[in-house]
Amino acid sequence: MPRLLVRRPSPRLADGELTHLERVPVDAALAQRQWDGYVAAFRARGWDVTELAPADEHPDGVFVEDTVVVFDDLAVITRPGADSRRGETASARRAVEASGLPTAAIQAPGTLEGGDVLKIGRTAYVGLSSRTNEPGIAQLRALLAPRGWDVVTVPITTVLHLKTGVTALPDGTVIGYERLVDDPSVYERFVPVPEAEGSAVVVLDEHTVLMSASAPRTAELLQGRGLEVVAVAVTEFEKLEGCVTCLSVRVRG
Ligand code: GLY
Repeated sequence: MPRLLVRRPSPRLADGELTHLERVPVDAALAQRQWDGYVAAFRARGWDVTELAPADEHPDGVFVEDTVVVFDDLAVITRPGADSRRGETASARRAVEASGLPTAAIQAPGTLEGGDVLKIGRTAYVGLSSRTNEPGIAQLRALLAPRGWDVVTVPITTVLHLKTGVTALPDGTVIGYERLVDDPSVYERFVPVPEAEGSAVVVLDEHTVLMSASAPRTAELLQGRGLEVVAVAVTEFEKLEGCVTCLSVRVRG
């Protein structure tokens, strides 16, 4: 059974880091309801949900994807590029270790955030961003090369993380909102989507993706490709440069 690691939103969510967006009011109660709906959508599809210890002192702690990336049976504990987020990894590591997955960790001076890692087949595209640096990518490559993974560096300037701009459909086609994609030619197959919030999907299974309810035209486009779409409202997280991928770590076993 696939497993989902999540962390409930901090009451300080509205103080989260912002890099490319202007700060706007965030409704903490609505954020909690949206998070509940997000988790429920996975549970309804048979995912086993593990909740990490709350980290109320970390406004961005809900974006748990940035703290751990799982490759086969190896969990890589990251070293976030944002100082305010470094303290989030200890509890993520404890949860992953409790689940029995072997771990490795990115070390200083390396930085890596999970939002910068897009896995397609045995290739990990890694955003070289304001949060993930060259030493972090080099460490990841050293960990993954013996396990048969290719690591491709993708410079990112227009959005926070690689996966703010692009994600992949079940067949490996990369989708993104073109204006926010530095170089679509990096990917073997790229399909533009009509809404910025439509660029992020989580693959639930071979035929189904979960995405933001803020992108109905993208949902239609994906349905036209034969996919089932599960849409969830995540507006309060989008205001903080989060998206459907950042809110969880998926362990597909
Ligand atoms: N607000 C999400 C982040 O900057 O990490």
